[in-house]
Amino acid sequence: MIKVITFENEEKLDQFVANAIMQVVHEKAHPVIGFATGSTPQGTYEQLIKAYQNKEVDFTHTTAFNLDEYVGMNNDHPCSFAKAMRDTLFDHINISTNQIHALQGDAIDMNEECKKYDEAIAKEPIDIQLLGIGMDGHIAYNEPGTSFESTTHVVDLHPESIQSSLNYGFDRIEDVPRRGVSQGIQTIMMAKQLIMIAKGSKKAELVKRMLEGSVDEQFPSSIIQRHENVLVVLDVEAAKLLQEGTYEKR
Ligand code: GLP
Repeated sequence: MIKVITFENEEKLDQFVANAIMQVVHEKAHPVIGFATGSTPQGTYEQLIKAYQNKEVDFTHTTAFNLDEYVGMNNDHPCSFAKAMRDTLFDHINISTNQIHALQGDAIDMNEECKKYDEAIAKEPIDIQLLGIGMDGHIAYNEPGTSFESTTHVVDLHPESIQSSLNYGFDRIEDVPRRGVSQGIQTIMMAKQLIMIAKGSKKAELVKRMLEGSVDEQFPSSIIQRHENVLVVLDVEAAKLLQEGTYEKR
């Protein structure tokens, strides 16, 4: 089932998603959260850090899985998603380093790396997976045309994704890796709950197609329509093309 909630106030949106994560962290003995990079979840991470500093949440027993990475990139590279997650969240909360799982983009054997990642997720199934939508409709780095059966795999990045990477610290387009490694669609769909966040009018068409279009491998994020527990959290701009009455307003 998909529940769509729109927010007029961005801070309330971020707080709402942070609360959903904190609830699972409070309730479960060993919570497992899947984290996304990109600009969209940054406010949520700020709220989580604030809550941690105010002693409202304890991440001691939390396990984290990152969604994706650039191929060929060491996890300490300033533009790696692993570093971005440390800088924007993990280094500011009390999650233990050995419970943070990140794909190694510079592994010698990438197939083996992908297999190991899927095995680690199977061992500790993800309670909440945060997601954003890419400008080509991707989730994680599952680009248009990716099989819905895919597990963690290496991908050729779509030109839109290469272009969007300029927002993630690269100075020149030539510096952006051409390949990524990503949790697969099937891997993502195994999470017990998905929380998809989208903000801004540039996402409005994409959000409409994701929620109201056909479920189609050419538009990977449309797969979330088939998940049994999905929360889609939008700002008013990202929701502006959705049919009235199909979502809750806050
Ligand atoms: C990036 C990442 C995704 C992210 C998406 C949206 O390329 N690979 O994991 O969710 O695109 O990014 P943003 O939130 O910056 O729009």
